[in-house]
Formats: sequence, structure tokens, C-alpha cells
Amino acid sequence: MTTRRGRYTAAVAVVGVFALAAVVLGLAMAPSTPRESSGSDTLRAAARRRRRSVGTALAAPTANTDPRELALVANEYSSVTPENAMKWSSIHPERDRYDFAPADAIVAFAAAHDMTVRGHTLTWYRSIPAWLADGHFDREQLIAILRDHINTVVGHFRGRVQQWDVVNEPLDPASGNLRDDFWSRGIGPDYLALAFRFAHEADPNAQLFVNEFGTDTVNRKSTALLHEVTALRAKGAPIDGVGFQMHRTLDRVESRAAIETNLARFADAGLRIWVTELDVAVPVPVAPGALDRQARVYGDVIAACLAVDRCDGVTTWGFTDRHSWIPAARPGLGAGLPFDARLRPKPAQAAMVGAFLA
Ligand code: XIL
Repeated sequence: MTTRRGRYTAAVAVVGVFALAAVVLGLAMAPSTPRESSGSDTLRAAARRRRRSVGTALAAPTANTDPRELALVANEYSSVTPENAMKWSSIHPERDRYDFAPADAIVAFAAAHDMTVRGHTLTWYRSIPAWLADGHFDREQLIAILRDHINTVVGHFRGRVQQWDVVNEPLDPASGNLRDDFWSRGIGPDYLALAFRFAHEADPNAQLFVNEFGTDTVNRKSTALLHEVTALRAKGAPIDGVGFQMHRTLDRVESRAAIETNLARFADAGLRIWVTELDVAVPVPVAPGALDRQARVYGDVIAACLAVDRCDGVTTWGFTDRHSWIPAARPGLGAGLPFDARLRPKPAQAAMVGAFLA
């Protein structure tokens, strides 16, 4: 059994980037507070009072990362999800080569600030490196590759990553059936059960999740997801919970009650719940009132999670409008996160705190 400090020291040694280690260590010793608002609660303190985690997606820190961003994350959040650093293309770029350095840097940062880590992700139809996509592997080879990948990645972070999104976005958005994708075509529908089995073998203590989008309320896709996960568990797949991404916009605002009702039926099936990728994209330039409407959506999602005992956390997909996947993924939209591009808390941050403390 290694100590937290021992693991941290080892992780930094693995990273081997001294400038980066200096940034992380410096922040460990003297986190500054970039917030300008007067003494109100942080997200982290507010969530803690309700025994919930509050997380953010995080890009790997580099020597060029603005240290105020990391200080804000350490101050405001209690969980991090590597935004891209653990995806196949990043962490396993060639068949015989893993690149752990960026993910190690995030995990070391989390350990230094007493934060937990959600690992993301072990199977996804996107971020498949060329060696794998173009490798013409047969089913048995793909199963062996998947097992090796999951053993290596989950094993590398054993004890330091508390939750894994083992399977990401498995369902077809239109039909709700299993997506016709790289993994289901190459291995068959049992790729999900295999991935969960391999992850459980590699770290029996990690909580293992299916992560999906478009399943926030009771609808065809969420019902299909509930059936799929329930059937897999009945067959012995070690699935602990379901992650609800919740990439939202202002033109389809679903009520807090509708979200709560849906989360509750997953909880009633014995599953842990986590809102894993919350953001609320608004049209840019931002119109008057839009940020207040956005704040209400954020507050409603927190309230829905709090109403469900087994909902353990809410993660925002990034924290500052300075860095967000939204403008590239959804042209014309932006400003989706709780802190603005100058790292100041937006109404959304206050609404989240208010919902946690209500
Ligand atoms: C996104 C990242 O935010 C981008 O930086 C990257 O270019 C593409 O992936 N659902 C997921 C996340 O599960 O992994 C995606 O993240 C956003 C949608």
C-alpha cells in the first residue's frame, strides 16, 4: 500500500517534466483565489455540505497553463475528468506505445489537491487511433487488444482513479439500439460486458460506469439505456452506475422534475448516478438575460441530483468559457460554463452554489 504522498511523488517522477511539476507543487503549497466575488461559498464547499462531488473536465496542464486556472479548479472543484488525455488516441497512440504523461499530470494534480478522478474513457466509437481503426483485426484480436488496453490503463491508475467511464455513448441516438460502430461491429454486442469485466479485473475497487448523452429525461433512448444496463447487470457485468452527460442548450430546457424522475428510475434499479459532462451552450454574442436563464438550468440539474440519494456528483465539461469544446462543436453557440473567460464566476456558479445549499 503506497501513501498518497508516495503515489504523488511517483506520478510526478513518471511525468518527468520539471516545469510542470513546479507548477503543480507550487499550487499545492499556495493556492491563490482568482475569484473577485466577496467571500461566498465555492462550488466545492457547497457540494461537500451535501456530500456530493463537483467536478470539471480538465485538459492536461502544461508549462504554459495559466496557473490561475489550476488554482481556480483546486479551489472550486473536488473531482476532475481528463477531457481527452485518457482517450485511446491520446493514451495509446501506437500499438506498442502508451503515452501516460498528460494523464499522469492530471492525476498528480488531483492527488495534490485532494480531488478524485473520473477516468474517461475505455471504449468509445470516437478517438480510435489509426493503427486500430485501419488494423483489420478479427474479433479475437480485438478482444485481446481491448483486454490489454484496459488492463494497462486501468492498472496504471489503480487506486488513483475512483470512477471509470468504461463505455461511452454506446447507443444509437435515433433508434436507441446499440450503435453500429467500431466496437459493436468488430467484437459484437458483448463488447460492453467484456469491457466491464476487464476493467473490474484491473481495479476491483473502481466504480464502473456507462456514460451516455440524450438520456436526461424519460425518453426512448434513456429507456433503452436502462434496459440495456439492467440486462447486462443481470448477466453479471460489474456495472456500478450510469453517467448522464447533459450537454444542454437554452432552446430545449427540460424541467427539473423531468430530470429528477428519470434519474430516480435508474437509482431505483440500484445504479449510482453521476452527471458527467454538464454545460449549457447559449447563442453568442450573449443576449441580455441569457446567462440568468443558463444559471437556472445549472441550478435545476444540481437540484435534480440532490433529490436522488444515489446521485454522487455533477461534473461540468470544463470550467471557464476560455476553453470549451462548444464553439467548435456547435458553431454560433458558446459561453456554456460556470466561469467566464476571465475566470470570474457567472450567475451559473452562484446558482449551483445556491442549489447545493438550498
Ligand atoms: C470532447 C472534448 O471536449 C474535445 O476537446 C474533443 O475534441 C472531442 O471530445 N462527449 C464526450 C466527451 O464523452 O469525451 C467529448 O469531449 C464531448 C462529448
